[in-house]
Amino acid sequence: MENRKIGIIGCGNISAVYLKNLREQFEGVEVCAVCDTNRVLAERAAETYHIPYVYDNADELCKNPEIRTIVVLTTPGTHAELCKKALLAGKNAYCEKPLGTDLKAAAEVVQIAREKGLHIGCAPDTYMGAAIQTGHKLIKDGWIGLPIGARCNVIMFGPETWHPNPAFFYKKGAGPVLDWGPYYISALAYLLGPVRRVSSVAKKTYGIRKMTCKERYGQEIEVEVPTYISGILEHESGTVSTIIITFDACSEASLDMEIMGTDGTLVIPNPDTFGAGKMVRYKRLERIHHDLEKNEWFEIPYLFGNSDNSRGLGLVDMLNAIEEKRLHCANGDFAYHVLEVMLALEQPGDGSAVEIQSRF
Ligand SMILES: NC(=O)c1ccc[n+]([C@@H]2O[C@H](COP(=O)([O-])OP(=O)(O)OC[C@H]3O[C@@H](n4cnc5c(N)ncnc54)[C@H](O)[C@@H]3O)[C@@H](O)[C@H]2O)c1
Repeated sequence: MENRKIGIIGCGNISAVYLKNLREQFEGVEVCAVCDTNRVLAERAAETYHIPYVYDNADELCKNPEIRTIVVLTTPGTHAELCKKALLAGKNAYCEKPLGTDLKAAAEVVQIAREKGLHIGCAPDTYMGAAIQTGHKLIKDGWIGLPIGARCNVIMFGPETWHPNPAFFYKKGAGPVLDWGPYYISALAYLLGPVRRVSSVAKKTYGIRKMTCKERYGQEIEVEVPTYISGILEHESGTVSTIIITFDACSEASLDMEIMGTDGTLVIPNPDTFGAGKMVRYKRLERIHHDLEKNEWFEIPYLFGNSDNSRGLGLVDMLNAIEEKRLHCANGDFAYHVLEVMLALEQPGDGSAVEIQSRF
């Protein structure tokens, strides 16, 4: 139970759903401290959720002996550093995606956790939700036969239209690949297994982005990362995933993922969500001539729970796993593999192939 006393670092946009879910949806987790360099945000969270300890400095939070697990909800550039700080203070750490912005720092975090016998977890946890769990079972049960390929079109205009402080989305550690990629690459790796090779063409369409969110309307962001990426992932199994991922354009393509197999195809709802309001769709492959216009897609009701926004599910699974002495689902090795694949999608980005070293 002691590990369930947690401290949260970062009280910005995404913290609201964590705080709400940890209070209302999941039992037995006690948020006893919050921290943000913007103290007003930490105080607001503490007041709303009756949290006793408030900090504006992560070092101070890490010194609190009551806290056994630290949840890092800051912007990506600080994830590895703050997780390392938490682990070196003897706490378990769980962070929002991605695990880090470079492989060296992320590897160090995983290694420290291993050496200290602590746990490191990392979002996303959406693949633990109803939609992807259902898709996973259908694939494992052979509904699509042998998986051949997957297709993801992650096409949208960037978050400068709505996020109150969107500059970080265009800095190293974010961009469409490291911001949206975690949902898709984690889902693809979870459904189809580790990736052995990646190739992509990546480009930066705009050097400067203009914010249109009401908080910073008209302000400019200098873009550091590629924002239009067309990539191919070769899984160890031989399955080939194709992904377009961009913050530059709009499209009629849906954000759902398609997994194609020798006996059929599955459409799995957008892995940025847990699947609420949708179903997995399935079509059996016909090997005889048939009417292409005929709708032969079947909707498959979810076979698992957690279809609503269940952010925090991965953290709760980690806390349960500590007690049950098993490996948690959203673990450090998995997050490291996803990060390695994502960085290979961004660079070199000239069409050449990058061999992926990590496995999970
Ligand atoms: N906003 C979303 O819809 C969303 C969805 C899913 C995941 N995420 C992920 O969650 C993370 C946070 O995103 P966000 O939208 O909440 O960002 P945000 O900018 O709204 O909030 C981040 C907060 O962290 C604080 N912070 C930064 N460095 C700190 C430090 N060293 N110590 C203490 N506080 C620090 C900032 O002051 C800020 O309040 C990102 O990794 C993002 O990818 C965001």
